[in-house]
Formats: sequence, C-alpha cells, structure tokens
Amino acid sequence: MNNRGLYIQLFSIHGLIRGTSPELGRDADTGGQIKYVLELAKALGECEEVDQVDLVTRLIEDPSVGPDYAVPIEPLSEHARIVRIRCGGKKYMRKELLWPHLEKFIDLSIRFIKSQQRVPDIIHGHYADAGYVAMQLAEAFDACFVFTGHSLGRNKKEKLLSDGLTEARIDRQYRISHRIGVEEKIIKRAQLIITSTRQEIEEQYGLYKSGRHDRFAVIPPGIDVETFYPFYDSQLDSELLNEEVKQIRYTLMRELHRFWAHPEKPFILALCRPDHRKNITGLIEAYGTNRELQKIANLAIFAGIRKDIKVMEDNEQEVLTDMLLQMDRYDLYGKLAIPKRHDFSTEVPELYRICAESQGVFVNPALIEPFGLTLIEASACGLPIVATNNGGPVDIVANCDNGILIEASDSTSIAEALLSILIDEARWSEFSNNGINGVRKHYSWPAHSEKTLSRFSTLLPERHVADSDAEQAVRELPAPSFGRRLTNVQHLMITDIDNTLVGDDQSMRELFWLLGERREELAWGVATGRSLELTLDAMTVYNFPMPDILICSVGTEIYYGPDLRHDRSWQQHISYQWKAEAIKEVLGSLKFLVFQEAEGQRSHKISYYLEEKEDRLHTIQELLKHHRLRCQIIYSHGQFLDILPIRASKGKAIDYIRYKFDFSPLHVMVAGDSGNDEDMIDSAARGLVVSNHSEELEKLRRKSNIYFSSEAYAAGIIDGLGHYGFLGS
Ligand code: GLC
Ligand code: MG
Repeated sequence: MNNRGLYIQLFSIHGLIRGTSPELGRDADTGGQIKYVLELAKALGECEEVDQVDLVTRLIEDPSVGPDYAVPIEPLSEHARIVRIRCGGKKYMRKELLWPHLEKFIDLSIRFIKSQQRVPDIIHGHYADAGYVAMQLAEAFDACFVFTGHSLGRNKKEKLLSDGLTEARIDRQYRISHRIGVEEKIIKRAQLIITSTRQEIEEQYGLYKSGRHDRFAVIPPGIDVETFYPFYDSQLDSELLNEEVKQIRYTLMRELHRFWAHPEKPFILALCRPDHRKNITGLIEAYGTNRELQKIANLAIFAGIRKDIKVMEDNEQEVLTDMLLQMDRYDLYGKLAIPKRHDFSTEVPELYRICAESQGVFVNPALIEPFGLTLIEASACGLPIVATNNGGPVDIVANCDNGILIEASDSTSIAEALLSILIDEARWSEFSNNGINGVRKHYSWPAHSEKTLSRFSTLLPERHVADSDAEQAVRELPAPSFGRRLTNVQHLMITDIDNTLVGDDQSMRELFWLLGERREELAWGVATGRSLELTLDAMTVYNFPMPDILICSVGTEIYYGPDLRHDRSWQQHISYQWKAEAIKEVLGSLKFLVFQEAEGQRSHKISYYLEEKEDRLHTIQELLKHHRLRCQIIYSHGQFLDILPIRASKGKAIDYIRYKFDFSPLHVMVAGDSGNDEDMIDSAARGLVVSNHSEELEKLRRKSNIYFSSEAYAAGIIDGLGHYGFLGS
C-alpha cells in the first residue's frame, strides 16, 4: 500500500455483506444498512484523496448462507474491498447474539491491522456493535473515531413498548439495555457522528445522556441516479427504452388502467409499507373528500411495494382492509388504484417516470418519516412531492425546493397541497426540475463522499507538508498509542520486576538508556505479582519510565501504557469458569489461611498468606476439587498463595499479547529470577534467567530456549538482549 492518501476502515459486523448481488431483504439484519455501507465503501474508494477503504465485517462459514461470506478478502473496486474477520464460531447468527464475541473481533482486527503495516486514519463504525469495535480500535491506534448509528436502541425500545412488548421480553430478545449502554459511550466518545437527517440528531441521539453535543454532521446517503434518471431522458434517448423497460411499462400501465375510468389524467402516487404510521387512511380521506382533486387526478397507492414484505407485522392486514372500506365509503371506484402486490423492485423507477409523464405528484403522508428514501428517488425522476413536515422530508424540501410540506394529521392540508401543484403547470415544472437537480447535488454518493471527506479532514492531525526549500521543523510528537507502537516494533522484552529489573540501580539505568535508544525496534513490559497500584508504586520508588505493557496481579490483568488502558478482552477470556465468590466462601473455612490485604485481592486473583506444612496445599486442592471449583493454585516465596482462573498466568498473558499483536516467538524475550517466573520463562521461545536467580529455576538449565546469564539483575537482561540479537547488529 503506498501512502498517497487516506486509509479508511468501515466496520459493519452483522448481516450478510457481499459485493456482487447483495441479498438485501433476505433477513432483518441484511437491509438498508448493508446497502449503505457497500455503496459508501465504493464511493469513498473512488475519491482522489483516498488510498484504501476496507469494509470490515464478520466471516461466516455456514453452508446455510453460501460460500461467499467465508472469503477473507473480497475486492469491491481498485481501492475498496471487504475484509472478513472470523469470530464467534462459523454459524451465521442474528446481531443480538454477537455481543459476547466483539472482544475477540477487536483482537483479530488488531492482528489484521498489524499485517497491513499501516494504521488506518479513520475508523468508522456502523450500528452499535461495530461502533463499539471501532471505538476500541480507534483508541488503540490513535485513529479518528466516526460513528453512524443507522438506528438507535432507545427509539427501538420505545417502539417495541408501544407495540405492547414487556420490558423483560425486549431485553431478552433484543439485549436492548446493553445496546443502549454501549451507545451512550459511543456517542460520548465519537469525534464525529454522521446522520442522514437533522431529525435524527434531535429525536434519536437527543434521547441519550451524552447526545447533546455538536460533533454531528448531517450527510444524507446517496441514491443511484443512473437508475433513477429523469422521466424526460427516456423520451429523448431511445436507447433507454429497451425491450425490458417497455415490458415493465406495459405491465404497470395495464395494471393501473384496470382501476381507472380516465387513465389519461395525471395521477397522485403513494408508495409505502402497509403500516398505520404511514397514514394511508389520511391520504384517501384527503382525496375522497375533495371533489376537485378527484376531477383532475387519479390516485394510485402501492402499499407494500418494498421487498421486505416478508418481515411485516400484523397491522398490514388491517391497513389493507381499511383501504378497501374507504374506497367504498367515498365511492372512489374508477379513480383509486390499489394494485395488488408484485415484486416491484425493478419497476419502481419506471413507475415514478410514468407518474411524472402524466404530470402527477408523489405524496408521502406519513405521520413521521425518519428519512424518506422514496421521496428522493421520486424527485430524481422528476416528480414534485408533497410530504409530511415531520422528519427527513423537511431536509429534502429545504435542500431541493421541490415540493410542499404538510401537516399529515390534517387531511385538508394534504388535499390543498396536491391541488396547488396539479393545477399550476409552471409550478409543477419548477418543482420537477428542482428535484432532478437537487437530488444530484445533495443525494448522490459522490456528493456524500465529498462532504464526508471534508469533515474527515477537519479531524485529522495536520499533515506535515514539507516545503521543498524550508527545512522540516523537528517537532516533538506526542507518545503514540499502544496499538500503533506495538504494531510498529519488531521486538518485545518482558521482565519480572522484583529482583530482575530492579536490584541493581546502575545496570537498570543502563538498560533504560538502551531501551530509549532502541525505541523504534523494541517495546518492553513488566510481568509481576504486584497489582497495578503496587506496580505504579515500584515505578515511583525505583524511578523507572512507563512500560509499553503492564502485566499485573500474576497475569490476571493487562494494561497498556502510557494511559494504562485495560485489556478487557483478556479479562473476558480468563473469566471462563471463574467463580471468585464461591472459592472465597469454601476457603473461608480453613483456619490456617490468612487473607491478604485489599491490594492483594483482585477480580481475578484471590490471595492468602500460607505457611506450608502438614500437606496444607493438598488439603486446599482437594477441597476446591470437591466443590468442583476449577482454578489454579500458585504458591511462591514460601508465603504467598494465589488462586487464579485456569486460563490465567503471566506466561499465558504473554502468549496472548504475542498472538494479538502478532509478534514472532523468536522476537519476544522473557526475563525472570524466581519460581513464579517459571511458566513465562519456560513458555517463551527466548527465555532469560538472571544470575541472581533462586534455586528453583536451576531445573530450566537443561532447556535450549533458555539462556542463563552470568550477569545479575538488569545487567543480565542487557546481556540477554545482546545474546538474542535484539540490540541490532
Ligand atoms: C505480590 C502480590 C501478592 C501476591 C504475590 C505472589 O507480592 O502483591 O498479592 O500474592 O505477589 O504472587
Ligand atoms: Mg522476582
């Protein structure tokens, strides 16, 4: 990858994403958002300023969804591709079940980023799940964090409650509280939130505690203007009127003409899901009670035209029945068309054009319309619009000046607006042209990308453009984030603190000087039985600099410097079968165990003082086994007893870091002096024992991967670094 421009990563984890014939509408998770991110990725990839766009999603290896979703990298275009990350097993699962697997997704994404040898400039999460992942990654890599919600938990919850579901049920099925909690954090931390409408900011994000800020940008998505071309194009360009289009037109006309006594009149078109909130009743009432309107125009209502009919709710039936009853009540036979459902996905653009050719109007009478995609599509084809003044249409009309906003609950206002356009030819033409031009200006993907990139550029740290003559000023750069640092260096050194790193002040100073010198190639960390607080104390007492990694409390906690970021993925990983409370209760019965002070007790480490005699360790072991409490028992220095989860130890923590940041085993050196360093020294490909080690490590001498230095303390570490070639040639 060359560095000509931006590297953008879009994260969109759930649903089924593929480049060719995406299966939109296949299930509830594969809909508008999938279409949006695919088009966004391609559109951004087309921009000059952009070097590379990765659309990162989940890898699914499940015969029930087909092999396309198991391909790790799928190119979309020259500069855009889909990247699939495996997590949470092979099976396809609905988005609500993905939450427990996101930490793993983050770990594997870090590995992927390292393999690219370039850190993304922008990490843009879509929906709460991917937003969470993007937020963690952006923090790890000092990248800009951008978020697009697509929908938000609080609004979803309100809707479900109003549909009659109980709070408990909503939580069980949709994990809504967890989602809302995550959204709060995302909204608080995102450097930029992109919405499609202004209404979203006020009525959706506005419901969040952290939602009142000014880091929002309203950038509506684009539509495909190649498909939604103006009605007059097909009259001017006969190529567009191919056989397929002619057949579609013929079918549509025949269908409409079945209903109308005077098909030559202009018609009013409505197109929506059969849902009460779409207010079809209000529209029929408006038309049915206005004689003049009936005289000059027909009405066509396509209810349930979109493809996602499969997932529709019960009120569909009711809405359709109401429509028929109203037709009868107002006696609209011969005037109102209610075509039966077809698969109209290919026919919609033609339908808009037929309506525009008739000098008709498109109407959206919904009580509330979050975005209004159909309005934009209809406008692109040249249809003037009449639309609800609640939601997205407000933006559309403000941008395009191509129609009239109405108060949807007032049916007279709907009728009057429609009439005023239908009877005024000049006005009709002006709205029609404005719509065609305005959509191309405001609602095309190139326009979307342009606005998006200009917002991104305000977030990025100023790029240093070197003047060819002027000398480049050497600026003191802030310390890079741990993600950047750990993916950039080749080598890693991890050392125990007590009696290995510290013990001889002079050689320790020398070591720190060396680590400073080799900063670009070598990262380092400590692994200790001390808690984080006691580790920080040691740093103050012995005056040593912030390590890149702090493995504390005998490997049960991992932090990354300089801001001590806690590795939650590790915590989650070691929680497996860990029952701290039960262990404490069972061991509480043993009088010879002395509970350690508060600093010794951590969420994943329980510590006692123990004088080992009369087979006490064995008694402890048996007791825990009897209660089926799986854990590790570590006794050290003739006095400390640590009880840890089965997956935790200093050595295992190092293995985990090695894997996560993709270090070759040959590039990681682990140093220690005593029995409680044994597992980490032994499991490393490059082990080091200092000369002042305790007796219990003697048995490691036979091992070929462990170097016994003849130097003590930090001098031993320096010797080891040289021995393994970590100090360069
Ligand atoms: C450190 C910890 C203590 C632990 C011991 C052995 O001294 O503070 O809690 O038991 O190391 O790992
Ligand atoms: Mg030690």
